[in-house]
Amino acid sequence: MSYTRHYSVLKKECIDTLTENAELSQVSYFADLTFGGGGHSFEFLTKNPLFQVRSTDQDPDALKNGEERIKNEGVSSRIKLFNTNFVQFPKLALEECKEVIEAGGFQGILLDLGVSSHHFDEAGRGFSFRFDGPLDMRMNYKSDAFLTAQEIVNTYSEAQLMKIFFEYGEEKFSKKIALKICEERKIKPISTTAELENIIFHCYPKEMRYGKTNPSTRVFQALRLEVNRELEVLTDTITHLIPLLKIGGRLAVISFHSLEDRIVKNLFKEASSSLEFPVEILTKKPIVPGEEEIFDNSRSRSAKLRVLERTAFKKTKNKYKQDLSS
Ligand SMILES: C[S@@+](CC[C@H](N)C(=O)[O-])C[C@H]1O[C@@H](n2cnc3c(N)ncnc32)[C@H](O)[C@@H]1O
Repeated sequence: MSYTRHYSVLKKECIDTLTENAELSQVSYFADLTFGGGGHSFEFLTKNPLFQVRSTDQDPDALKNGEERIKNEGVSSRIKLFNTNFVQFPKLALEECKEVIEAGGFQGILLDLGVSSHHFDEAGRGFSFRFDGPLDMRMNYKSDAFLTAQEIVNTYSEAQLMKIFFEYGEEKFSKKIALKICEERKIKPISTTAELENIIFHCYPKEMRYGKTNPSTRVFQALRLEVNRELEVLTDTITHLIPLLKIGGRLAVISFHSLEDRIVKNLFKEASSSLEFPVEILTKKPIVPGEEEIFDNSRSRSAKLRVLERTAFKKTKNKYKQDLSS
């Protein structure tokens, strides 16, 4: 199975902001915790021969493709790719990236959330209703720690299904779809993307079935988030990455829907009041792709990039300045 080329979103913006404070004449360490096709990781390596990268991914196909690419490009002395869920990275880094910790920490850490083009384009992974395939949707399909979409669709109660479709997919017809799934699975288990798509399609009113957005879009997104516990993992990770940054080091997170962005925004805000590991939020408003990037890659249209910087001291508000302006 070949790995589909992934178009790296906001690549220039990410690399520019994460490398801005780096000392160009000495070794700097970067962590790309969502390696995918390696677009961002390799861009760090191209930017400066002294840059070192530590990457993670949980997807067996991304890891296999990445190891081959690292070998073919002869950069194995400058990048290490770890097979792990990024929620484990704060712990793993202390054990496996001692050289980085001894150097004061990472200059930049990147999370480019969600799935890659490979997931959507590979029918066998079950992420897309564009192709018929098994209802799987696990990024880490070698792990039993995650339920497959098929297990969720066939075992969750009607109320549980309705809740995830509504909360994670903002699906208007959540109730009707959950009910229909429960009726259909009594006749025969639902095991393919095409079967699920057909059920959802018929739950939509006739006049809404052929709109701009496929009726299955929201339910498939909701199932993917539930299968991979994406929001839970994100919530449990962000705060623990900050102590791994050196002073002046930056954390950049690209999210693709409002549920993720809200978590990033709130956790950044919480972090900005920490006295133990002070940070400054550099993006009052998120950075978004320009028209040209959206034209080249329509999947980038919902991307939002937020960045924070670890600082030596907590910045206090300058009251004198405030008084002058009031
Ligand atoms: C949007 S893609 C990243 C693309 C990459 N930045 C590039 O330019 O090619 C997200 C990648 O992160 C991985 N991923 C998502 N959540 C993860 C998690 N919790 N732990 C580890 N990897 C994860 C996915 O398997 C996927 O390969």
